[in-house]
Amino acid sequence: MTHDDSTPDAPLNDWLRGRHALTGNAPEWDLDALPEDPTVLFAEWLKAADAAAVPEPHTVTFATVDADGVPDARTLILKRVDERGWAIASTRSSRKGAQLGAVPAAALNFWWQPQVRAVRVRGRVEEATAQESADDLAARSPAARAAVAEGDWVLWRIVPERIEFWQGSRDRRHTRVVYLPSGSGWSHTVMVD
Ligand SMILES: Cc1cc2nc3c(=O)[nH]c(=O)nc-3n(C[C@H](O)[C@H](O)[C@H](O)COP(=O)(O)O)c2cc1C
Repeated sequence: MTHDDSTPDAPLNDWLRGRHALTGNAPEWDLDALPEDPTVLFAEWLKAADAAAVPEPHTVTFATVDADGVPDARTLILKRVDERGWAIASTRSSRKGAQLGAVPAAALNFWWQPQVRAVRVRGRVEEATAQESADDLAARSPAARAAVAEGDWVLWRIVPERIEFWQGSRDRRHTRVVYLPSGSGWSHTVMVD
């Protein structure tokens, strides 16, 4: 890699070059005992992250695209997971609300550093019922509720079309398990690279 130490960013870039990644301790992962349902594995990993004191393991990067196909991403809180999908909530009047209005598709990315684990979910996005959105808003603090205009709070679900569970390894033989819809259920593939 070439670099120019005369740029103002040289110290930062030197620092970046010296960083290490994937320094956590990956748990044992029995690939012969994978659940049929990816939400079951997701729940196991989320609970394991919490048990390992990962700070706020339910925060997630949420990516959308705008009407011109330009991507955007931000951090959100995961609200629910069930057979219908992964749910997040925000305001319809936000940038993400406009982007979802134009292109109802999104991706989620979780990264749990201590366990060298990441989960990716992508799919189309569906708006939950008005009642579900109202219930989610009602569960927020009074201060948080007061900042939201009437009818603006929306619970959205990412209906997964692909879910990837990734676990890094010290020997760089990283493992990926990809779940894809199959009939009324799921199929999964294990890849070690
Ligand atoms: C840890 C964390 C959690 C957040 N959770 C939410 C959330 O659940 N809903 C939300 O609308 N914004 C949340 N935000 C703020 C978003 O990251 C973002 O700044 C905001 O929603 C505006 O995004 P947009 O301009 O892309 O619509 C959170 C930010 C952080 C750092």
